[in-house]
Amino acid sequence: MQLDRVINKRKSVRKFSLRKPNWRKIIEAVDVANEIPLAGNIHTIKFILVDDEEKINELARAAQQQFIKQVHYVVAVCSDYTQLKRSYDERGERYGKQQAGAAIENFLLKITDLGMASCWVGAFSDETVNRILKIPEGMKVEALLPIGYGTGKLKKKKKPSTDAVLYFNEYGNKFMKELRKPEGV
Ligand SMILES: Cc1cc2nc3c(=O)[nH]c(=O)nc-3n(C[C@H](O)[C@H](O)[C@H](O)COP(=O)(O)O)c2cc1C
Repeated sequence: MQLDRVINKRKSVRKFSLRKPNWRKIIEAVDVANEIPLAGNIHTIKFILVDDEEKINELARAAQQQFIKQVHYVVAVCSDYTQLKRSYDERGERYGKQQAGAAIENFLLKITDLGMASCWVGAFSDETVNRILKIPEGMKVEALLPIGYGTGKLKKKKKPSTDAVLYFNEYGNKFMKELRKPEGV
C-alpha cells in the first residue's frame, strides 16, 4: 500500500473479529518498528509478543479495558533508558520516549499495511503489567498493542487542519514571507 494511504487508513480499532492473525505477520511489523532513528543509535526498545490467553485477559484487567480480551495477540513495547541517560543526562529520558513513540507508530502503520488493526493502549497499571510480563528492573512498558482484524465500520477521527498547526519562522506566525525579488527587479 502507498504510504499516504496507510497513514490515512490507520485508526484506533477496539472491535475485532474472531479471525486469528498469522503471528509471523506481526513479526514483520516488529521488523518495521525497529527501523527508526535512534539518538546516538542507542537501542532502547524491546517487544513482547503475548499469545497466552490468560495473560491477555490479565492485561485487559490491568488496563481496565475489556476490548483487549477479544484479541489473540498483544504486543507490549518496552524501553530501557539507562544507556541513553548515561550518554545524554536528563535528555536521555526524553529521547527514549520519543524513540518509543516512533517505534509504536511504525508498528501501527505496518499492521495497517498488512490489513490488520490495533489500538495504542497507554493507560494501565504499570505495577500489574510489569508483574504479568515479568519486566526486569529499569525497564518501562510504554504501550500495549492488541492486534486483530477490525470489524464494523469506524469513522476516521477528525484531526486538526495543517493551517491550524503550522507556523512560519516563529511561533504564532501564520504567514510565509513573500519570496524575495531578485535585485534590480
Ligand atoms: C499515548 C497514547 C495513549 C493512548 N492510550 C489509549 C488507551 O489506553 N486506550 C484506548 O482505547 N486508546 C488509547 N489511545 C488511542 C487514542 O484514543 C486515539 O489515538 C485517539 O482517539 C485518536 O484516534 P485514532 O487513533 O483513530 O486516530 C492512546 C493514544 C496515545 C497516542
